[in-house]
Amino acid sequence: MKNVKLHDKEFNLFIKAADIDKAIENMATQINNDLNNEKPLFLSILNGSFMFTSDLLKQITIPGTEVSFVKLASYAGVNSTGKVKELIGLNQDITGKTVVILEDMIDSGQSMSYMIGLLKAKNPRQILLAAMLYKPKALTCEVKVDYCGIELENDFVVGRGLDYDGLGRNYPDLYILSEK
Ligand code: IMP
Ligand code: MG
Repeated sequence: MKNVKLHDKEFNLFIKAADIDKAIENMATQINNDLNNEKPLFLSILNGSFMFTSDLLKQITIPGTEVSFVKLASYAGVNSTGKVKELIGLNQDITGKTVVILEDMIDSGQSMSYMIGLLKAKNPRQILLAAMLYKPKALTCEVKVDYCGIELENDFVVGRGLDYDGLGRNYPDLYILSEK
C-alpha cells in the first residue's frame, strides 16, 4: 500500500518492511555478540513493542534468554492533581539481572527515563535500552540508547507496532504523516 487513511489523517509509505527487518537483524547481531554470557531478560514495553519484540527475539541466540512484557499505566492519584505512572506486569525478581528494554520508539525520552528509574530501584545488574526507532532531535531528557534500529527526524509515523489513536499498529511497513 502506498497510502493509508487512519481516522482523519493520511499517511504515506515511508520505510519498507525489508529495511526495518535489516535494521532489527543488525541489532540482534550486536546484542548476541555483546550479551552472550549474560542470561539477559528482555523487557518488552507494551503495546507498541509487540512486533519489534517478536522480530528481534526470533534472532536472539543467547543461552538463558528470557522475555517479559510490561506496561506503564497512568492513573490519577486519589489526592493528587498530576498523573501517577505505575509499572504493571513485572512479576519477577530482576535483582542482579541484565535487563534489555525493548521499546518501539524513543521520542522525547520521558517515558523511558521514567521506566529506567522504576527499574533501577529493583537493583538489576545493568539496564540496556534497545529502540527500534529513535528521534534523537526530539529528546528532552538524558536517555542512552544502547541499540538503535533506525534514526528518524521529528516525524510522526505509524506501522510496525506504532499507532495513531489506536490504528495502524499491524502494518509491516512504516508510514509517515502526510504533509497535505
Ligand atoms: P516519549 O516518552 O516521548 O519518548 O514517547 C515514546 C512513546 O510515544 C513511544 O513508545 C510511542 O508509543 C509514542 N510515539 C512517539 N513517537 C511516535 C510516532 O511517531 N508514532 C506513534 N507513536 C509515537
Ligand atoms: Mg511505546
